Amino acid sequence: MLEIGKFDSDTDALKQRINTHDKFGTYDLNEWIFEHMMPKVGQQVLDLGCGTGKQSIPLAQIVGESGHVLSVDIWQKSLDGLMQTAQQVGVNQRINTVCSDLDELDANVYGQEFDRVLSSYSIYYIKKPRHVFETIYKLVKTGGVFFFCGPSRFNNLEIKQFHYGLRGEQVPSPDWSDTFIENIGLPTTQSLFKEVAEFRFENPLRFDSAEALYRYWSSYNLYDARLDSAFKVAAADYFKRNAIFTTIKRVIGVRAMK
Ligand SMILES: C[S@@+](CC[C@H](N)C(=O)[O-])C[C@H]1O[C@@H](n2cnc3c(N)ncnc32)[C@H](O)[C@@H]1O
Repeated sequence: MLEIGKFDSDTDALKQRINTHDKFGTYDLNEWIFEHMMPKVGQQVLDLGCGTGKQSIPLAQIVGESGHVLSVDIWQKSLDGLMQTAQQVGVNQRINTVCSDLDELDANVYGQEFDRVLSSYSIYYIKKPRHVFETIYKLVKTGGVFFFCGPSRFNNLEIKQFHYGLRGEQVPSPDWSDTFIENIGLPTTQSLFKEVAEFRFENPLRFDSAEALYRYWSSYNLYDARLDSAFKVAAADYFKRNAIFTTIKRVIGVRAMK
């Protein structure tokens, strides 16, 4: 199973990755998420593994004054950052946070139901999938939606090939996080929810300099300090011959209706 690593828990690395996706990505992941999750004014939303609020903040704007967002994350520092942004944007009255491991969600979020539950790039950190999905099922109102998304098994194949190529190796078989949505999330929701649909999204990240490529790699969980100088040299060499390095974020989303 996937252990939470520095690059997942480090608030600064997360911010850096989000900035990279915003700057170098071709499409907007949030637009795609909201299209399938369909949040509306006045709704109660639960954002699981919310991080620094990439979805919680716009969701609070979408649900408006009559709606509410409950944002859950295992890292208090990320939740503090989220509330700071919420205050700056003027939506802090519509958001509450809960610091909890998703595996213990049932002990920390109960006695309420939500119109929408989201888990963007976080559900694969759980260690007790059946238990957590059953908890989520109970938290969704009848007629409500649970949407979760994360990487597909071919996610970022291009930068992985570049990285493993430095060691003269092939890209290894996909790990727990790269297969969780397809192998575990999808069948588990199918066994619980009334209507389940799968969606795919591809977002090419186009880097225009060796420095930009290095910054992305060093904020990503592929990073290996032992390859640091080799990566810089190979990236510089690549950009002598090419103007752009493209790696593709390949995302799978599952929408489960109760
Ligand atoms: C990659 S970030 C995703 C943040 C945001 N949802 C997004 O899409 O940008 C993953 C988040 O999941 C949180 N996380 C990881 N393991 C967790 C767990 N077991 N319980 C709750 N949150 C967890 C991390 O702290 C981090 O904020």
